[in-house]
Amino acid sequence: MARIPDAFIDDLLARTDIVEVINARVPLKRQGKEYASRCPFHDERSASFTVSPTKQFYHCFGCGAHGTAISFLMNYDRLEFLDAVDELAKRAGMEIPRDTQQREARPDSAPMYDALDAASRFFVRALAGNDGARAYLDGRGLDGAIRDTFAIGYAPDGFSSLKDALGKDDPRRIAVLEKVGLLSKNDRGHSYDKFRDRVIFPIHDRRGRVIAFGGRVLKPEDSPKYLNSPETPLFHKGRELYGLWQVRQANQKIERLVVVEGYMDVVSLFQFGVPQAVATLGTATTPDHAELLFRNAPDVFFCFDGDAAGRRAATRAMESVLPRMRDGRQAFFLFLPDGEDPDTIVRTEGAAGFEARLAQATPLSTFFFDTLGEGINLSTLDGKARLAERAKPMLGQIPDGAFADLMRQRLSELTGIGAANPAAQPAAPRMQRGGRGAPPPKRSLVRHAIALLLQKPGLAAGLPPPYPFVALRQPGIELLTELIAIGSVRPDITTGVLLSQFDEREEAPALRKLAMQALAGDEVSWAQELRDVIGQLDRQVLQQRIDDLLGQQREGTLDAAGKQMLRDLLAQSAR
Ligand code: UTP
Ligand code: MN
Repeated sequence: MARIPDAFIDDLLARTDIVEVINARVPLKRQGKEYASRCPFHDERSASFTVSPTKQFYHCFGCGAHGTAISFLMNYDRLEFLDAVDELAKRAGMEIPRDTQQREARPDSAPMYDALDAASRFFVRALAGNDGARAYLDGRGLDGAIRDTFAIGYAPDGFSSLKDALGKDDPRRIAVLEKVGLLSKNDRGHSYDKFRDRVIFPIHDRRGRVIAFGGRVLKPEDSPKYLNSPETPLFHKGRELYGLWQVRQANQKIERLVVVEGYMDVVSLFQFGVPQAVATLGTATTPDHAELLFRNAPDVFFCFDGDAAGRRAATRAMESVLPRMRDGRQAFFLFLPDGEDPDTIVRTEGAAGFEARLAQATPLSTFFFDTLGEGINLSTLDGKARLAERAKPMLGQIPDGAFADLMRQRLSELTGIGAANPAAQPAAPRMQRGGRGAPPPKRSLVRHAIALLLQKPGLAAGLPPPYPFVALRQPGIELLTELIAIGSVRPDITTGVLLSQFDEREEAPALRKLAMQALAGDEVSWAQELRDVIGQLDRQVLQQRIDDLLGQQREGTLDAAGKQMLRDLLAQSAR
């Protein structure tokens, strides 16, 4: 498979400022030569996440997340490698080399996306050809425009309409259809259409690609009412929100998102003038969902049924959002009357009616204390203590900031118990960091050379061959040789890229640790140091050779030629 040339990636990352890329997503604070913030990849109260502008990489001392601007985009924006490269290339005004672009656009997942897209189009065509399905949608009041926007379709009845149309008896095509969850298998291993005689709602990812489907029965007596695609390599329901793609298309800037329970709720709200609704896909709101929601909008409204199940779902949502409540984010909870859902509300009360309800939604803080206070009598001391006990671990999950302060204050108002600020407790001891005040750790020459090269891989260009030291039998020599080879061929490579080359290797953690250290001095002094260290290593080769020969002499296996060589070497080392 064609790859994007390393030189292009090096160049791209050289022209990209990782600090800018990350800062646009996670506000960074300057800290000496580096930048820091709370880690976006795990929940924490202290700022363990550092970004180095000189080394062009990020690293979290807490969870170990690390990488280049490319891997940051892959992890934070959940982009694939090519898409992340594409994004950075656009920023930098660079063009990805043409032929790799075409061939690379078809990695392993491409046939899956193609199959899902073809299936979606197949379902849309089938809807056009099925009176019953169209009548059902008419009955539910979905107009033509909204059917187009959401690419609503119909899966025909019968066990192999889709399989025959897209699989074409080709085992490879059929295997892809199975992989993306469009076919089910019976006991005898025979596969057949998963979605049959159902209205189809395609689920799009953040780039508008179809990754899964939901299907609703037409007849009330059929079950289950909704069928969703299983988890597949492309679809993880805990991370996707139905409708987010359409919402992003419809809104320049998304001021708020409304989280509802069903496909029909999203679609109806959209049609009737509330184009900011998304749905979790038959699952509770996960922390991944919470992060995704807040990345798209500062205000999030959770809308649930007023029944017990709705309350439980709301509690789960609350637990998922608490750790994401950075300043500037707000969450609200809205409960609908029994028997109603957003779909029915917006049809009877219109967008204005639904908006009026949103305006009355319960803020997270109120919902939090209402929920935790359930069954507790706050007029007793015992009740107060119990509330404090329940609340504290949950409040501890809220990131530092005004909201966290407010919640603790509210707790002490309710309980009269001074809610100790868990943030005031000393943070867990950090990993020992070298540099900046700390005495440089003692390390072997090899480690020192590696550390220097990690600081600035291009230093290798100042080390012309030959490299006698490669003969040394010492730990790390092979690695050092490898680093010199990479740095000589790709002198512009950043520390971040260099490290990423070792991601899969067992040396990776040790390399990262060395790379984290801030060495004293500058490029000029490092270059000199590196030459000195390599010179010393070269001289150790001489000593190693002498030691070998001396060993042979003791064992009586040294021949005349060997003895002559030993004398020469001893003389050489004495000079
Ligand atoms: P509801 O049962 O509340 O249905 O399921 P609804 O959204 O009001 O749908 P309509 O109006 O009857 O068409 C809410 C959501 O729960 C999931 C689906 O995502 C659905 O949209 N669900 C429900 C399932 O996954 N399977 C089911 O059998 C039922
Ligand atoms: Mn409904």
